[in-house]
Amino acid sequence: MSAFENQLPPATSHAFDIVVVGAGGAGLRAALGMADKGFSVAVLSKVFPTRSHTAAAQGGISAALANMGDDDTWKNHVYDTVKGSDWLGDQDAIAYMCQHAKEAVIELEHMGVPFSRTADGRIYQRAFGGHTLGDRQTMAKRACAAADRTGHAILHTLYQQCLKHRVTFFSEYVALDLVMDEKSTKPACKGVVAWNLADGTLHAFAANETVLATGGYGRAYATATSAYTCTGDGAGMVVRAGLPLEDMEFVQFHPTGIYGVGCLITEGARGEGGFLTNAKDERFMQRYAPKVKDLASRDVVSRAIAVEILEGRGIGPQKDHVLLHLQHIRPAILEERLPGISETARIFAGVDVQKQPIPVCPTVHYNMGGIPTTIDGRVRALTQDGKTLHIKGLMSIGEAACVSVHGANRLGTNSLLDLVVFGRAAALHAADKHQPQKPPPALENAEIQKYLQRFWVLHKASGVLTVGAVRERMQAVMSRYGGVFRSEEHLKKGLAELDHVAEQLPLIGLQDQSLVFNTELVDLLELHNLFPQARATLISALDRQESRGAHARSDYPDRCDRAPYHTLVTLLLKPIDFFEKYFDLKQIKNILLQKRPVHMQTRSAEIAPIPPKKRIY
Ligand code: FUM
Repeated sequence: MSAFENQLPPATSHAFDIVVVGAGGAGLRAALGMADKGFSVAVLSKVFPTRSHTAAAQGGISAALANMGDDDTWKNHVYDTVKGSDWLGDQDAIAYMCQHAKEAVIELEHMGVPFSRTADGRIYQRAFGGHTLGDRQTMAKRACAAADRTGHAILHTLYQQCLKHRVTFFSEYVALDLVMDEKSTKPACKGVVAWNLADGTLHAFAANETVLATGGYGRAYATATSAYTCTGDGAGMVVRAGLPLEDMEFVQFHPTGIYGVGCLITEGARGEGGFLTNAKDERFMQRYAPKVKDLASRDVVSRAIAVEILEGRGIGPQKDHVLLHLQHIRPAILEERLPGISETARIFAGVDVQKQPIPVCPTVHYNMGGIPTTIDGRVRALTQDGKTLHIKGLMSIGEAACVSVHGANRLGTNSLLDLVVFGRAAALHAADKHQPQKPPPALENAEIQKYLQRFWVLHKASGVLTVGAVRERMQAVMSRYGGVFRSEEHLKKGLAELDHVAEQLPLIGLQDQSLVFNTELVDLLELHNLFPQARATLISALDRQESRGAHARSDYPDRCDRAPYHTLVTLLLKPIDFFEKYFDLKQIKNILLQKRPVHMQTRSAEIAPIPPKKRIY
């Protein structure tokens, strides 16, 4: 042990059957299921659980309940999800999710989620972009809604259920790094080290399974519907453990973020009859998607808005946004079904939705890519010869993970469904594989201290730049070069710009040297999680020479269906083993790109595979 390690304050050790990092919908659903099977479960969350970003999900959770008088089925849902994913989603995972959707939603109802109701007392469902019936044209009403606060309702219910099942919460704990088993010949995880913001203490959690449910990395961009906390912390830890990230090129833009601030205006607003116009007062979606118009899937609507703006038909002095109209909707409907966005529009755009349109533009909303996993939540990598390698003791679910059900573009309302279906699947897998109360692998003090070194070094960061300045520069690069439309020239420029950002990372200095609620240090840790994901996004986007779903290359406008593949990118950093080289730019630039074929088989006797075809709107 080095002299440096000897001086470090000791970390408090904990042992649980399972440690879940992240207390959004996925983390809570998994924790609940695991506790229900008799496991001791710790949930670490950097915010109080009910402040997790799931609370921001508005419009609904999809399940073909057919409560609104249509004849919707889970097979329609599979079709729409595959089509929405632009044939990049794995069809076995999609079939699994859609087939389990109905029971997942009914289970939530029984747990106490206060869904809105139809006149005869059933769960209310609304139309959403890309949701269609068997003729593939008529809009299905599939989004099960609790007004426009569906995520909020689900999150609170799951949290209460976790308390009932005696899950142990470690709130305001920042997870720092995975503790990997360095004696094992294959990659294996033994737990996680974390920092308690409230009192400044350090902690080590040993567990038989560590589950990363840490959400997306929307904050790599300048404007996002994502909360400030969406910094992809789990994926940052995975990168530092030397593991790959999958499909990072696919970043979803929501068509209707409030202009200038990015707050989400739910697609449910268009589901209730809202529509978009440009500076010529034209309902321009009629030109881009003549059949489904404003309810085309969100990549289509986002691109349409971007084209309107690029061709000079945007609104305002900069001609850089469009308008969303809700004024024609009956006030009683707005008050009952869209109260949240009515309030958001008033606060953030100064707009009374009953009288004025809302200024909106496409805003980063969701990461289809993330930590590669199997359907049951096991983290996986690829060997050099393309074989799947499961990472022992490590799982991931929710937006942090890439199963992949969303492929190149997620269908609206499938994210809440993904959280609960795969949260439950992770719990089933844990019960299948482990016995409760089996002692987890021991964490030695020396290895804990080794994994905490990065934290101590960042805590003492003494450069001349602020975290905010460097983060803003990274966000500007991502927004400019990794946006709705991409090209080789732009992506290369973006990567070169990110190299400059990398040079600035070690020049950051902190004013605050304390350990208690040091939000400046939190920001720095988050930036170190965001940065590799920003890089991975542009690297994967440059490599994918086609346009598919949310990834629109102006230099490769067509989709290539010869051998659809997922991208796996590993950034070869080794800050743990080679700490002194952490800021070595040559290392940061080292990358490994791999591909794995898209699963085109549903692996279900009940539904046939859906072969690729041209998307018609
Ligand atoms: O528009 C929305 O309410 C967003 C839903 C989603 O992303 O699933």
